[in-house]
Amino acid sequence: MRIGVLTAGGDAPGLNAAIRAIGELAWRDGHEIIGVTNGWAGLAQEFTGVALRPEQLRGVVGRGGTLLGTARFDLDHPEGGREQVLAAIGEHLDALIAIGGDGTQRVSNWLAERGAPVIGVPKTLDNDLPGTDFCIGFDSAISFVSESLDRLHTTAASHHRVMVVETMGRSTGWVAALGGLAGGADLILIPEFPMAMSDVLEHIKRRRRAGLGYSIVVVAEGVNLETLGGVESGALSSEGVGGVRLASRGVGQFVAAQIEAEGDLEVRTTVLGHLQRSGSPTAYDRIWSTRVAAGAYEALIAGKFGTIPVVRDARVVLASLSTVAVGQRQVPREIYDLCAVFF
Ligand code: F6P
Repeated sequence: MRIGVLTAGGDAPGLNAAIRAIGELAWRDGHEIIGVTNGWAGLAQEFTGVALRPEQLRGVVGRGGTLLGTARFDLDHPEGGREQVLAAIGEHLDALIAIGGDGTQRVSNWLAERGAPVIGVPKTLDNDLPGTDFCIGFDSAISFVSESLDRLHTTAASHHRVMVVETMGRSTGWVAALGGLAGGADLILIPEFPMAMSDVLEHIKRRRRAGLGYSIVVVAEGVNLETLGGVESGALSSEGVGGVRLASRGVGQFVAAQIEAEGDLEVRTTVLGHLQRSGSPTAYDRIWSTRVAAGAYEALIAGKFGTIPVVRDARVVLASLSTVAVGQRQVPREIYDLCAVFF
């Protein structure tokens, strides 16, 4: 069989571990493995599949990014991109494994509904793909956030400052909430549980009155600016193409300015940005990326197209692509309440 594999959307640590697993398993069983470069672009434009050999897969498990390259490629503008992908799969491949987040899996589902032999693999640093406890890259991201907060504590304490830390996360607050919980944040602002600016200020002043000399405030990039007293400048997209680039909204800077305007507090802002997506994957990301990728390969060999291996209760199980291709998984109340115990 000619098995294609691609990575689409934003990169994330753990992608190479997944590619390696699919490639090695395919080689073991005597299949040809084709790496499609730059996500959907490699199928919608000129076909850019290259045969992967085992030696290209050695030593990549600990390497961040994706050896296939990736792209945020809009298949719907101009129209017809999806049909081109469908045709390219039929012409060049016997089956395709598409590693990506919600935008990618919506396309995978669309293709599978039209009979294409496609299987998904869950990847998003935002951790908000419905129906799975694991998404490639999330653990590496929160490990970085947690380490960053550990570091920021020392300078915040020395200067008696408020440190505002902006994290990635687009429409959900998983990175801010769990990174903040692990890193000892004193307040976490996420889209799921909006807070008024007056409550943020009151919380910081209360900490001051209680003799706590500094505060670490973690803000998810996707929090609603209007709730905080700011102005929203455009529609937010779920993943990929179109909409506002969330980091450019500057929610961290905005929150910091509001706190500083109170007059008696020194405030600094750190935007963690793409550092959250860069560098080596954690051991957890390497292991589970390998496991979901192996699950995808097994599903492919069994002919179970239109599916995606997901993690539930620490086991890899197969779900229908149609179930992950809708909406976002949000941070539940009980997790946010647990974070708030430490505010
Ligand atoms: O969707 C994953 C993500 O890392 C978001 O958290 C972030 O808003 C976005 O990608 C950044 O995308 P880009 O790399 O295109 O700037």
